[in-house]
Amino acid sequence: MARPISHRLRHVTLATLLASGALIAVAADGSDARPAPPDLAELKSLVETGRSVASFCANCHGAAGISKYPDVPNLAGQNPGYLLRQVEAFASGQRKSEFMNGLMKLLSPRERAGIANYYASLNVVPSMPKPASGVAGGAARFEQICARCHGDDALGDEKHPRLAGQKPEYLRINMERYYTPTKVRFYAPMTAAMTRLGRDNMEDMIQYLSSLDTN
Ligand code: HEC
Ligand code: HEC
Repeated sequence: MARPISHRLRHVTLATLLASGALIAVAADGSDARPAPPDLAELKSLVETGRSVASFCANCHGAAGISKYPDVPNLAGQNPGYLLRQVEAFASGQRKSEFMNGLMKLLSPRERAGIANYYASLNVVPSMPKPASGVAGGAARFEQICARCHGDDALGDEKHPRLAGQKPEYLRINMERYYTPTKVRFYAPMTAAMTRLGRDNMEDMIQYLSSLDTN
């Protein structure tokens, strides 16, 4: 079965993202976010909006979307649809993080779409080198349990986060949040996947995902 193109994106450029249909646009009055029309000039302008907002986000998420802190996620290379959903979830308070809840409320629809496209167009680098002991255990379990949602290479899509290259501590914190359901983040199929994975296999999984080099 052919995989969706968003699962196969490696060298991210605006043009390849546009071709994938993954990018986000906003209505002229800025009220509504929706899939982007094939208009590269408008997209470039949105990305410029995102780039200027991101100069503030860089304090934590890093200048090129590669985070500076272990508990802050990389945003580079993340799927734009997923990014926008998380921005909305923080703004509405559905996803809890005191700081991010307040900050995301301040962004206009155009800024939200701009941020999502800007970060999606940056390349991510793995957060740790492959361990000498290898990652075969994590790779096999990922294929069995996680790939059907997060994609064969953990690149994600508009509903599922990219996990490839993500910060190990951030992965650990969030996997724990699903493992024992909390009100911070809740998604029942993730709790089921974590139960199937088992706590003993979590560290292998984290090493596999953080060291995954998809560029
Ligand atoms: C003071 C540090 C800080 C700043 C500044 C900051 N963030 Fe965050 N951000 C975080 C932390 C911490 C998390 C993880 C919260 C959690 O664990 O749920 C996060 C999570 C996110 C996520 C979720 C990513 C995912 O993989 O689910 C998005 C999207 C995001 N931030 C966007 C932004 C944007 C856009 C800005 C700038 C307008 C910004 N952040 C500024 C600390 C920060
Ligand atoms: C049935 C589909 C499904 C399966 C199977 C699944 N996930 Fe997820 N996962 C999701 C969705 C959807 C989200 C985002 C949910 C949300 O917004 O809270 C998510 C979120 C995550 C996050 C948070 C990432 C971030 O950027 O914030 C991690 C880490 C994660 N999954 C790891 C895994 C691992 C490891 C497995 C396999 C053991 C797995 N998932 C299996 C659907 C799935």
